[in-house]
Parts: sequence; C-alpha cells; structure tokens
Amino acid sequence: MTGSLPPQAAAPDFELLAAIPAKAELIALPVWSEDGDLMVGPGAADIDEEYDLLGLLDAEGATGRAGEITALTIPGRTPRRVLLVGVGDQTSDHFRRAGAALGRAVRDRDVVVTTIPALAPDVALEPFVAGLTLASFSFSWRSQGPEWTPVRTVQLADLDGLRRELGVAVAMARASWRARFGATMPSNVKNPEWMAEQARAIPGLTVQVWDETDLAKGGFGGILAVGAGSVSPPRMIRLDYTPAGASKKTPTVVLVGKGITFDTGGLNIKSGAGMKTMKRDATGGAVVLGVMGALEAIGCPVNVVGLIAAAENAISGSAMRPGDVLRHYPGKDRGGRTTEVTNTDAEGRLVLADAMAYAADKIKPDVMVDVATLTGAIKSALGQQLGGLFATSDDLAAQFTAAGAASGEPVWRMPLADVYLDRLASPIADADNGPGPSVAGAITAALFLRPFAAGIPWVHLDLASVGDAPVDGYEWTAGPTGFGARLLLEWLRAPSI
Ligand code: BES
Ligand code: MN
Ligand code: ZN
Repeated sequence: MTGSLPPQAAAPDFELLAAIPAKAELIALPVWSEDGDLMVGPGAADIDEEYDLLGLLDAEGATGRAGEITALTIPGRTPRRVLLVGVGDQTSDHFRRAGAALGRAVRDRDVVVTTIPALAPDVALEPFVAGLTLASFSFSWRSQGPEWTPVRTVQLADLDGLRRELGVAVAMARASWRARFGATMPSNVKNPEWMAEQARAIPGLTVQVWDETDLAKGGFGGILAVGAGSVSPPRMIRLDYTPAGASKKTPTVVLVGKGITFDTGGLNIKSGAGMKTMKRDATGGAVVLGVMGALEAIGCPVNVVGLIAAAENAISGSAMRPGDVLRHYPGKDRGGRTTEVTNTDAEGRLVLADAMAYAADKIKPDVMVDVATLTGAIKSALGQQLGGLFATSDDLAAQFTAAGAASGEPVWRMPLADVYLDRLASPIADADNGPGPSVAGAITAALFLRPFAAGIPWVHLDLASVGDAPVDGYEWTAGPTGFGARLLLEWLRAPSI
C-alpha cells in the first residue's frame, strides 16, 4: 500500500555560525520599530553602507510588524538578496511569525543566513525555528514532484555556543512536523499497522504492539469494536521513554493518543462534507509519536509512556452497530466498564477508554494525559484557534494553559461539569457513548472518559477544533496541523508533578 507514495521533503536543517559568511548570497535581517524609528538588527552594519537598508525600508513603507518582509535584490553584489523581516514587539509569538514568514519567502532556496534569533536568543530561538520549520512543511503525492521544496539549510549567524538550545528547538519543531505528517498521510497508506511501523522506527524507545489477537486476549473491547468493521485490524501501541539517571522516585506520565486512521462515522455514517477531513482523526496518535521521538533531545526529566489506540472506524457487515454493548479493558473476566453504543460515530471515546483503563491498571502513572480530535462540539465552543483543555486538577490546568501559550498551541480550559452526567446514563450499561442532543458534546465526551482515569490526575485535550487549519497563516499550512506536539513537549521539558 505504501509503495506508490513518493519520498517526501525533509524539514530544513539549522546550523550555528559565529558570523555572517563573507560569501553569503541570501541574508535575512530583523527589522522593528522603536519610538517610531525603524531599526535593523545584527549584521546590518556590515552591509548597510552599500545597500542603504533604512532608506529602502522607508521607501517601501515598512513598519517592522511581525512577519512583514521587505526584499532587496542587487544583481552582481554579495549578498545579492537581503530580506528584511519584521519582528514586531520581539515576543515569542512575533519571532514565530517572523520565522514562518521567512520560511515561506525562502522556499526552494538552498541556504539562507539570518541573524534574527541573535537579536534575543533566549526569547527568539525556539519560536523562530518552529515558525520557519512548520511554514516549510510540505507533503506531495504529485506525479511531477512537489510545487516547491523547503529551504534546505538555515544558518543562524552571531549565535555561537547555543548548540544544546538549538538541538532542543529543532527537536520540538520536528516533533510538530512529524505530527503534521502523520495527520496528513492519506488513509490508503495510514492504517493501524502503519502507525505501529512509525512507532517502531523511532530510535531509542521500547515499543510494544498489540495486534487484534493480543487485544482480544487483553479484553480491549472498545478498540476491537471500533476496528471490527475494517479490513485493517486495530492495534494498541506502547512506547516507553526513561530519562538518563531515572530512579524509583522519577515520576511517570502517560500520554494516550486517539489514532483513528479514518473516521467514516461507522454505520452512523458521516455526511460527505463531515468525512472529508477525517484522515486527520489520527492526529492524537501522530502527536504522541512526534512527542515520544523528541523526549531525549529535549532532556525530558520524567518517565513517559505513550499509548496509541489505533483503529479504522469503517463500515461493513462486521462493523459495530448502534445498540451494541461492549466491555472495556479489562474485558476478559469482570471489572471492565460497559458501554452501550448508541452512536457509532462517537468512536474516539471507546478506544481512548480502553487505553486509559490499561494505563491506570498496569502503569499507574502520576499524571495521565489524553490527546484526541474528539468532538465537533469543541469546534463550536472554541473556534479554530484554541484547543480544548479539561483537567481534574487546577494546577495541571494552569501548567497546560501556560505551556500552550508559550509554545504557540494555545488551549482554553473547559468544565468537567457534573450537571451533565445524567446524559451519559444508559438503561442497560454503565454508560451511553452518544449522549442526547449535540449541545455540550465536548463536556459529555470528557465526562464519559473521566472514570477510566480511575482517580489519577488527568488532563484531556480535545483538539478537534484545531486539528485542521482552514487557510495558511503563520506557522500553519492549510490542512492537518498536528496541533499538540509542541504544547506537550513544552510541558514535558519541566513538568511540575
Ligand atoms: N472525529 C470526530 C470528531 C471531529 C469532528 C473531529 C470534526 C474533527 C472535526 C468524532 O469521532 C466524532 O465523530 N464525534 C461526534 C460525536 C457525536 C456522535 C456524539 C461529533 O462530534 O459529532
Ligand atoms: Mn466519529
Ligand atoms: Zn473520530
């Protein structure tokens, strides 16, 4: 199935340079406004006499706002082309925008030299690298090759000695790239076993995969029921990361990702319009893969176990039906909670429930986090710029809100409001998966999941709102976003647990 997918473009490489090389052909310099005067940043002095950069900016009406690009080309001189990039208020958001604008402006180029992060390395390096990397994201399955390719190398001048910091920045940006790649992959390639292969390809982690036989033995009734209609059987994937120097006291975090490799809705079939983007219903799983692969590079100090509940919610004679009752992990003997399936399109909670119950039983982490494109309702509530955050602890909610704001993946806290618990009641099972009218649907989905955390401090990220970008903007390219990877890594670099 994967045979016909052509090789894909790689993310840009970043290098540190002590100074701008004398032979640089293409240079990007930061521009901002201070007390009404335009300023041009590090490196400008070396070339300004010949190029009159401020004169050019003035003539072009430049303002220095974040992401504004003013280009100067002088054939026969070196550098031949100078890009003046607005860095606005020099906040991390503005450096991310500047990086993204530059990434777009240097597509198809071999090398660009820039001093933008050198202006304020502590604030600028990570968001600049993330913005530039993600705005360069490409995925192409065209017969004639991609329309454009990402810039191959970005040389960061005047930034000597920040090797470790650059390594962290690049790892975070690439985790996001990987998550976007996984979410973008068409579902005629991306099936549950493909997700498992992606996990096995991550170096340095222990990986365990449950196939359909193992899932049946373990009593993973939710994952099996959702995957029952597909010719590509379901998988549960576990990845283990242990930090160097870990001891018995090192806390453990579990990340659970929704890996629905395609969501038709099942027998409660979606409309054509509703199904169109459902290859990205594996975003949560792709985010977990991206995050797990970056933990060592960011020096994550806690144990992290990634769990991906991977299934295709397909339609066939063997698909689960409305009215079916299933038993979640541990479904074998007794004890596993039961669910009446009243809507086969509310499948995400069914697979997450099994993985969460397994984590509570076998891993007993200090914190459990699940990440999922779970409900259309979260999009109605928050729009397409904010992810939904639910948490059983105010402290964790505050940490995740801060990590979201810092990483450029903002989330807004939603209530786990018991007033809607009665909606989950089923006359014959512990819960109903498709509760009532579609209002408050993100809250009822979160309430459905809560018992499966079994009292462990729990954060639930419903990212259906931000899983798809409607248009190109800043670091987002139209289409699947892979939203969540940077947020989780920002938290995992220094979690307070
Ligand atoms: N994968 C969808 C949620 C979704 C919707 C993600 C739109 C991205 C964009 C999920 O499985 C789903 O279908 N949820 C239903 C739940 C309902 C049937 C209770 C929904 O939101 O309509
Ligand atoms: Mn669904
Ligand atoms: Zn879904």
